Amino acid sequence: MEIIIFFSITIIIMPVKATFLNEKLAHYIEDNFSAEDDFLANLCREAAANDIPDICIGGAQGAFLQLFLRSMNAKYVLEIGSLAGYSAITMARALPEDGKVICLELSEKFCDFIRKKADEAGLAHKIEVHQGNAVSFLQSYKPDFSFDFIFIDADKPNYIKYFELTLPLLRSGGVIAGDNALAWGYVADKDSTYEPLNVTGIQNFNKAIATHKELTTCMIPVGDGMVMGLKH
Ligand SMILES: C[S@@+](CC[C@H](N)C(=O)[O-])C[C@H]1O[C@@H](n2cnc3c(N)ncnc32)[C@H](O)[C@@H]1O
Repeated sequence: MEIIIFFSITIIIMPVKATFLNEKLAHYIEDNFSAEDDFLANLCREAAANDIPDICIGGAQGAFLQLFLRSMNAKYVLEIGSLAGYSAITMARALPEDGKVICLELSEKFCDFIRKKADEAGLAHKIEVHQGNAVSFLQSYKPDFSFDFIFIDADKPNYIKYFELTLPLLRSGGVIAGDNALAWGYVADKDSTYEPLNVTGIQNFNKAIATHKELTTCMIPVGDGMVMGLKH
C-alpha cells in the first residue's frame, strides 16, 4: 500500500502596519504640514531659472526638520550637500539667533546662490557655506564645538564616508540623518537597475546606521525617506 502525503505550504505574509501614501495623501500632507512659505517657493523658482536642479527636500520634510530641531534645542547643524540653500534656510529658521548651519557644497555656483539667498532671508549670520568636496573638507575639519544635528544629502555613494567622518563630530544625544533613505522607491530591491550606484550607496549607509552599536535608529517615511540615528 502506498501512502502519499501531500504537504501544503502556506506562506504567511505579515501585514505591515502602515498606510501607504498615494498622490492624494502626499498632497494632503504638503498642503497641511509644509514649512514652505513664499520665500522658499520663490527660491525654487529662481533656482530653476538659474539651471539649478529641482532636487531639494519637500515642504513636509522641512516641517519635520524644523519641529525636530526645535524639540532638541539644536544650535549647531552640519549639512552635507546644500544645493540652492532650501534645506539650509529651512533648518536655520529653527535655530536660535546664535545657531549655525554649516553647509558643505561642491558647486561654486550653488554656493554663491546660497549666500545670496541666506542674505535675502536675513540669515547670513546663521548660514556658513564651505565650497568644495565634502569628503576632503571633512578629513581635516576640526570644529571647536560638537554638532547637534548632521544632515547628509549629497552624493549617495559617499554617504557611508560622510557617516564615518562625521559621527565623531556629533555630540552624545545628537542626531545624524540621511535623506533619500528610500532611494526613490528602490531601496528594497536587491539589484536595482535604477541608478545602481546611488541605490547601493543608500543601502550600505542604511545598513551601517541601522546596525551601529552607538546609535538608536529609525526610518521616517517623509519625502523620499529619512534615516535617523541618535548617538548614545
Ligand atoms: C540633493 S542636493 C542637496 C539638496 C539640499 N539639501 C536641499 O534639500 O535644499 C545634493 C547636493 O550635493 C552636492 N554634492 C554632490 N557631491 C558633493 C560632494 N562630494 N561634496 C559636496 N557637495 C556635494 C551637489 O552639488 C548638490 O548640490
